[in-house]
This record gives sequence, structure tokens and C-alpha cells, in this order.
Amino acid sequence: MKRSLMCGNWKMNKTVAEAKDFARELVSMNLPNADDLVIIAPFTQLSTLAEELKDTPIKLGAQDVYYEDAGAYTGEISAPMLGELGVSYCLVGHSERRELFGETDRNCNLKIKALIKEGIIPILCVGEPLAVREATNEFSYVGAEIYAAFDGIGTEDSQRIVIAYEPIWAIGTGKVATADQAEYMCGFIRGLIAGLYDNAVAENMPILYGGSMKPDNAKELLGSMQIDGGLIGGASLKVDSFAELADIANSCK
Ligand code: PGA
Repeated sequence: MKRSLMCGNWKMNKTVAEAKDFARELVSMNLPNADDLVIIAPFTQLSTLAEELKDTPIKLGAQDVYYEDAGAYTGEISAPMLGELGVSYCLVGHSERRELFGETDRNCNLKIKALIKEGIIPILCVGEPLAVREATNEFSYVGAEIYAAFDGIGTEDSQRIVIAYEPIWAIGTGKVATADQAEYMCGFIRGLIAGLYDNAVAENMPILYGGSMKPDNAKELLGSMQIDGGLIGGASLKVDSFAELADIANSCK
């Protein structure tokens, strides 16, 4: 059966009180696919959300991590710290971290390894900027990101990873990739994973699409056999639109 993992990336939004209200409302909706929903929140909200979601199937995610377990790394948060809070997923290499905060491919690789060691599922974000797509170099660009991120990761650990394809030109711009563009790239990524590991690993790996996914375009994107869910920014901030997206995802299974 096709999966549809729907991850709401709140980015730098919401106070603790707002996060709590959102979680209570979402939980009260008793959505049938609640076990395929992840709320990816800022660090300050994680312990409150963990409390609110603890007896529910809805999962909790973080937006970043540092790859060392502990030490003199002012401002950073480690995988064991996230694990202690009950975090199940963590973004790695979101394009905003790569573009605004200097995240490198090497760091992404180390972060993935640190998360897997802690039993947290990394959601590796890849995707090309507009200039790269205009120069038709998007496949080699995304391919290089994938190879760097999976460097030194064995077959068993590779099965603990989720990939999110997010073309940078579609993030927060309202400019969504067409279902064909998204499907083609997700299929390309699956092919790379099959080459690195095997067909079974590639077939079972959840590959999400992200970039201006909204209730009015989600059905087409999630209908693709190559797209196993969404990484949703703007449309995840309101509980009604996130629930609507969850509903659409459920109907696309
Ligand atoms: P968007 O963000 O849905 O607001 O485009 C997606 C993301 O950056 O994960």
C-alpha cells in the first residue's frame, strides 16, 4: 500500500502556547491517518508538544540537530537531547539551513549518522535552486546532494532515512512544481538509491515532495506513485489546512 507521510514544517513560527492549542485541536480531530502525521516544530516547543502528543499516533519532529553528542558547541542541540524528548524525526539539510546558515553536505552526512545512532529518523532535504533548473542541471545537482548525504551509510541504516525533494524555487513562493516535474525527480532519486543499495531499499524509502504544497494542489502531487507524502511549510501552520492535507493524503493511499 502506498504511504503518505505528511510532515508540517513550522519553521520559525508559533509560541509554546500556540503550539499547544494547535496540537490539542489536531488530536481532537482523530484523523484516520494520524500515524502518518509529523509536526516539525522549533526546539522551544518540543517538550510541550511531546506532552500533548504522547498518547497519540502523531509524531514529533525537530528542524535541525548537531552531530556531536555533547560539548562546547554553544547554541546547538544534540541527537540524544532530542531523543530524550521523544522526537521521532528530524530535518537535515533543509534548503533554508543550507542557504542562510551555511549547512554543508558533509555536515548533513554527519547529522544523519548521529540521528540514526539515536533512533531518530532523518528527513534529508534535497533540491535545486532556480538557476540550476534553468541551466537543466537539476539532476546532477540533486544527485551530488544524495551521494554526499549517504556517504558511508550501510544498507541497514539507509532504511531509516526519509528523503524530501524540495525544489528551492518552489519553497514559500507559491510556485509549485508540476506533478510531472516532482514525480520525475522523485523517481530519479529512487533510482539513485537503488544504485547505492538495492531495489527493495529504494522501493521502501519514503520520498516526499515539498514546496508550496497546499490543499488545492496536493491531490495531484500525492497521486503520483513516486511521491510518498509531503513536507509542508506555510499550509501546515493552520490546523484546518494541515488536517485538510492529511485528509487528501489519506484518500491518495
Ligand atoms: P512551503 O515550505 O510549503 O511554505 O513552500 C516547504 C518547506 O520549506 O519545507
